[in-house]
Amino acid sequence: MSPKKKSTYSVPKLKDFSAAALDEAAAKLLAALEEESEAVFSDAEWKQFRDRWMARKAGVLTQINELWLKKAPQDAKRQAGQRINELKSKVELQVESIHSKVSSLEILDKVVDERFPEKVEHARFERRYGPAVDITLPGIRRPLGAEHPIIKTMNEMVGVFRDLGYSVEEGPEIETDYYNFEALNFPPNHPARDTQDTLFIANQESKPLRDRLLLRTHTSPVQIRTMEKMKPPVRVVCPGKVHRNDAPDATHSPIFHQIEGLAVDTNITFCDLKGTLDHAMKAMFGSSVKTRFYPSFFPFTEPSADVQISCIFCGGRGYRDGAPCRNCKASGWIELLGCGMVDPNVYGFVDYDPKKVSGFAFGMGVERIAILKYGVDDIQLFFNGDVRFLEQFA
Ligand code: PHE
Repeated sequence: MSPKKKSTYSVPKLKDFSAAALDEAAAKLLAALEEESEAVFSDAEWKQFRDRWMARKAGVLTQINELWLKKAPQDAKRQAGQRINELKSKVELQVESIHSKVSSLEILDKVVDERFPEKVEHARFERRYGPAVDITLPGIRRPLGAEHPIIKTMNEMVGVFRDLGYSVEEGPEIETDYYNFEALNFPPNHPARDTQDTLFIANQESKPLRDRLLLRTHTSPVQIRTMEKMKPPVRVVCPGKVHRNDAPDATHSPIFHQIEGLAVDTNITFCDLKGTLDHAMKAMFGSSVKTRFYPSFFPFTEPSADVQISCIFCGGRGYRDGAPCRNCKASGWIELLGCGMVDPNVYGFVDYDPKKVSGFAFGMGVERIAILKYGVDDIQLFFNGDVRFLEQFA
């Protein structure tokens, strides 16, 4: 298969030897020379090309000598000879320059053959039949990755607390029953454990309950690990992945992320908790956002509260465009996180003196914050890895 057109050019006999007719004939010949040059890529093709134009016996140059010079009437010989000399040097020059083009292609071919054997098909085909490869073009750039919206939201929230003087702590995703529950004041068999559908590691029954492994259901065990290794004052945030035995749907995922916060010092009050979280919510969602603390229960905080922010979609009015707001179910409030004053029982597990110190803790779901902040309607989008979704956060 050869998509190259064979040139149909052959040297014509001339009837008219006037200057204009000679010029026209010369122009046609040069156009054919140009066209045929473009089809020459290999050394073998070049040899054919050279012979077609320069072979002593029947090359094009010999033919024009025969048909244009020798057949010219006496009075036209001079102008025919002039043009033929010009054509001769142009043809010779072209044949030479095509030779150097072919040599560099042959070198390139060899390099491609050696280094990219699997691409040889492709590379040669493109070079010959497709658009010429411009080797001066820059290489293919791999697009830079972007922060995942969950990591981005986490970093932003952690940044807010860093600015308040908090440092960052992390803990393991596979935890013991002790850190995930017991030291957080969930006694064995206490119904509060049922609020966190837990994924347990199999075949742990031979161990004492406190040592049995599970996937942490919240980041709160990092509170215990931090207080075990640090004396007050403590101010930490603990971002991380958590797991619950929840079936995935638009608002649930068995894997999600939380950011835990813990501040323990002398004289820490509920006011400090309120002020801190009010500031954090304003920093995340805008200064016009209001917060509301609603009584709740967690075994490791007392008193406990759920924090709600005024609905960022309807401005807390409960309705939007004359209709009830769907985002806050017309209540004007959106529940965002859990918090409370650290229960004195917890201090007992980490050797802090509850008579001397007090503190607060909070825990928030990162996906939930990201969903609100970016108007995402399905939590699964964060985990599907679809670039069309992710690149919107770049
Ligand atoms: N760990 C709790 C949860 O996952 C949230 C929380 C953290 C509540 C800290 C109070 C204090 O539901």
